[in-house]
Amino acid sequence: MLFRQVVSEGLAHYSYLIASGTGAAVIDPRRDCDIYLEIARNNGLSIRHIFETHRNEDYVTGSTALKEACGAEIWHGRQMDFAFGNPVQEGDRFTLGTLEILVLETPGHTEESISLVVRDLAVSPDPFMVFCGDTLFAGEIGRTDFYGLSRNAEMAQKIFDSITTKILTLGDGVIICPAHGPGSICGGAIAEHPLTTAGYERLSNPRLKMGRDAFIAHRVTESPYTPRYFRRMEAWNRNGPPRAPADYYPRPLSVGALETALRDGCQVVDIRSPTSFAGGHIRGSISLWRRGISGFAGFVLEYENPIALVDDFNTGLEEVSRQFIRMGYDTIAGTLSGGFGSWASAGKEIAMLPSCTAPHLAERLNREPAFLLDVRHGDTWRSSMHIPGAHHIYVGEILQHLDEIPKDRPVITYCDAGFKGSLAASLLSRNGYNNVTNLLGGMAAWTRAGFETVP
Ligand SMILES: [Fe+2]
Repeated sequence: MLFRQVVSEGLAHYSYLIASGTGAAVIDPRRDCDIYLEIARNNGLSIRHIFETHRNEDYVTGSTALKEACGAEIWHGRQMDFAFGNPVQEGDRFTLGTLEILVLETPGHTEESISLVVRDLAVSPDPFMVFCGDTLFAGEIGRTDFYGLSRNAEMAQKIFDSITTKILTLGDGVIICPAHGPGSICGGAIAEHPLTTAGYERLSNPRLKMGRDAFIAHRVTESPYTPRYFRRMEAWNRNGPPRAPADYYPRPLSVGALETALRDGCQVVDIRSPTSFAGGHIRGSISLWRRGISGFAGFVLEYENPIALVDDFNTGLEEVSRQFIRMGYDTIAGTLSGGFGSWASAGKEIAMLPSCTAPHLAERLNREPAFLLDVRHGDTWRSSMHIPGAHHIYVGEILQHLDEIPKDRPVITYCDAGFKGSLAASLLSRNGYNNVTNLLGGMAAWTRAGFETVP
């Protein structure tokens, strides 16, 4: 048997390829599906089946592109009408060499969610592993709010029952292969280990240990963030997504071409560090560091306008571009040739984002009535300390709450470590706030410097 877990950083998405003999199956493929073809090619395999555990909402499915490349059949749960592929139902079985794949219907995260139980009949008739999509994660249970908060309790009940009656009963030693790891917006507090077992989850998963009623009661008190790009992913993944751009490497843009693109409404995304952005950037650009692209682009970038990238040295841009394409941002106009330095040396206007250190902020708060804005995740805001006098708006929701942020006072943004604060400050600057400062090092710097915090 061959088993590969393909990790897409940023989205914290796990897809899988399993094989036995010469046949392979791919579970929840990502849109840039060349990696599965490469694994198959390197191992003399032919991909016969593509399974989607559910209509994913945080990335563009790669099923149709993979089918086009290798001819495999696509399968998904029967409780949703897809414009492509074939429905499966409880009890359906597929064979790959000595492997048998059994379909379980496990609704809760979505109605059509399925799990795939794998047995290696050459070894034992007992289940060996299960691919369970967004139903059960290491240390967490999938979201249940996608049908609206009015159905959250109903879906929470379904997911808990799916897990306890269908997945955990497979046996303690069964390996759980989830679709996401820590950092995913599809799970609140997913544990760090990329695989787990049914027994480990039964004994340690905090959600399961609550018990059914307490889990449902707790679930309805939660309100996880839903980035606006989810709507587009849901539609594409049901109806079939457009073909991805042929070339993942962004083309070089001269300074003049970038100026033209800016005039035409292009969104300039500055992927450098907050300190570089603070030191100088192209006016109107969005400060979105590389590792934050998958987590935050979908909250703040529009699909309608192209995206131009600004880096220092233009290294590793194919991976940056792949992050955008996995989220359906297919309109990457290019990247500033020569990096930000070429803009500076061309004598073009350079904007600066004021930033401050923790001691500067402490001194400043004593002498002026600044509007202090904490942009950390709401869970962090509620469960940990913050700077006295701070207001909270999550960075991903700032654009929907601009009316709560005064324009006639200085605004100081802060977050955990300075990255989200820089993003927030850049969004405010784009929206007419001309006195915005970001706290470098964020709450980490403030706390370590020993300044006062309040719950
Ligand atoms: Fe999902």
